[in-house]
Amino acid sequence: MTKIISVANQKGGSGKTTISMLLAGVSAQRGWKVLVVDADPQATATRWASAAPEDEPFPATVCGLAAAREKIHREVRKYVGAFDLIFIDCPPAIDSPVPMSSFMIADLALVPVLPSPADVWATRAIETLISNAQDFNESLQARIVPNRVKDNVVIARESLEFIRSNFRIQCTRSTLGDRTAYQQSVAMGTVVNRLKAPKAAGEIEVLANEVLNLLEL
Ligand SMILES: Nc1ncnc2c1ncn2[C@@H]1O[C@H](COP(=O)(O)OP(=O)(O)O)[C@@H](O)[C@H]1O
Ligand SMILES: [Mg+2]
Repeated sequence: MTKIISVANQKGGSGKTTISMLLAGVSAQRGWKVLVVDADPQATATRWASAAPEDEPFPATVCGLAAAREKIHREVRKYVGAFDLIFIDCPPAIDSPVPMSSFMIADLALVPVLPSPADVWATRAIETLISNAQDFNESLQARIVPNRVKDNVVIARESLEFIRSNFRIQCTRSTLGDRTAYQQSVAMGTVVNRLKAPKAAGEIEVLANEVLNLLEL
């Protein structure tokens, strides 16, 4: 049974591509057949995979389907059966039809959110979208993933507390810190456990455990 995860938030820079690629990479290293559908015309995920050295390719397959737009669910369905896990890396545009289309076929929506007031406000829109999608796709689960968390910054701590207590979507237990290894992994076309970055690698392992557990894998 192929599991589909849509990584979405209309706000740019919240960590959609980072979380899609790193969860996909680590799941592939664990032996699952994993596809990342790059649904963003900016093609960051595709560039990430193409930045990998020839002798050490990115562990998951990445394909660009941004042009399918509102028909993305139909295109993704063609890969069901060929992969164990499909991550859909959604574009940030507020008016894009891709998040809603992807929620129609997804088992899990992951919503990366930066703990800052502006990002918290923007998350209301995706919360409504997920709630509407659940009217059609009753088995759609959803989790907010707090990203770039800085425990020592008061406004970040307060924003995270607000997210935890004011959204209908639960937060994942695991959070990602603000770490340069996440940026290095993009530039080098790799996953964090191939860099000398034990903290980042540990965070991704823990988040992957939680996500695969939600999907009963
Ligand atoms: N936890 C993190 N720590 C440090 N940098 C991060 C982290 N998450 C994302 N970034 C960086 O922030 C930028 C935006 O992240 P990205 O995943 O591309 O966001 P999105 O796909 O939502 O637009 C990228 O430069 C990425 O490397
Ligand atoms: Mg992106």
